[in-house]
Amino acid sequence: MDFSHKLISIIFPVLTILFLVFFMPPYLIFKLISYIFRSFFPEDVAGKVVLITGASSGIGEHLAYEYARKGARLALVARREDRLTEVADEARRLGSPDVLIIPADVSKPEHCKTFVDQAVNYFGRLDHLVSNAAVIQLSMFEDVTRISDFQRIMSTNFWGSVYGAHFAVPHLRKNKGKIIVMASIAGFLPLPKHCFYSAAKAALISFYEALRVEFGSDIGITIVTPGLIYTDMVLQKSYSSEVQTSLVLGQTAEGCAKSIVRSACRGDAYLTEPFWYRTFWLFKMLCPDLLDSLCLLSLIRRHRSANKTS
Ligand SMILES: NC(=O)c1ccc[n+]([C@@H]2O[C@H](COP(=O)([O-])OP(=O)(O)OC[C@H]3O[C@@H](n4cnc5c(N)ncnc54)[C@H](OP(=O)(O)O)[C@@H]3O)[C@@H](O)[C@H]2O)c1
Repeated sequence: MDFSHKLISIIFPVLTILFLVFFMPPYLIFKLISYIFRSFFPEDVAGKVVLITGASSGIGEHLAYEYARKGARLALVARREDRLTEVADEARRLGSPDVLIIPADVSKPEHCKTFVDQAVNYFGRLDHLVSNAAVIQLSMFEDVTRISDFQRIMSTNFWGSVYGAHFAVPHLRKNKGKIIVMASIAGFLPLPKHCFYSAAKAALISFYEALRVEFGSDIGITIVTPGLIYTDMVLQKSYSSEVQTSLVLGQTAEGCAKSIVRSACRGDAYLTEPFWYRTFWLFKMLCPDLLDSLCLLSLIRRHRSANKTS
């Protein structure tokens, strides 16, 4: 048995490389043609119903504006009702024919059932579920004093998305709808101090990749892995002091939202925004230890600049 595994371990990689050499060129050409076709004939969301969680600020807010410009009807969910009201007013001004706001906490399954039911009862259908609500909390693992404080990251960022999908899927299936999932590059990069946040985002990516296979062509899934986007989440003092050295490499929430809606309408399986962050995937696949060292360097730089300022 051991011998056969050893033999396969030698033969299989060689066969895989040979297969890829012959398979990749036609595969890439096929993907390019499909991309061009989908770009010329994207989904028209005018009059369709889009439910966005975490729509009271940042990327979620701008997603609401972008869908509104395309004439979609909107159900906006978050905890801050006053902010949702302002976003809804702006979305109506930008062209949405109807906007419903639903104050709710995604980490509570009963709230998720209620907001999906309310949206479907009000509009009569559901076409896109944008699972965007999330929180962030940074810490070196060994600096954590009360481990239970970090449960809210998993319950909001992972379970909050899963609950919503659970209640929305029967409705999305009826219209060949779509789920747009806001993961993060933190889901595949070994970012220090992000361990809980990264774990929740990695769980999201794996969860929706499995669902994509289960749903087949009945429900489309676009997994979005943004890099640094200038929103309240990263501009808050506690976060920006942690990532001060790389804040110049970000993208606006507006630009990010435009790319996401375009990508969702095109039916992409994945979107990384800004696009160049995708090259980190190559490092992750080909030389993960180099990526670890780069992330460690960034941590050392942060410590140095923190020491200088204190
Ligand atoms: N900004 C970045 O650099 C970046 C990078 C990668 C991925 N992302 C992801 O992009 C998404 C949007 O983040 P953002 O940058 O736009 O941050 P943000 O401005 O802080 O927005 C987060 C949204 O989530 C909502 N939210 C948080 N907890 C909630 C809960 N328990 N129930 C309902 N809503 C809740 C917040 O609204 P309320 O407080 O009103 O509830 C807010 O509308 C997140 O999934 C985030 O992980 C962001």
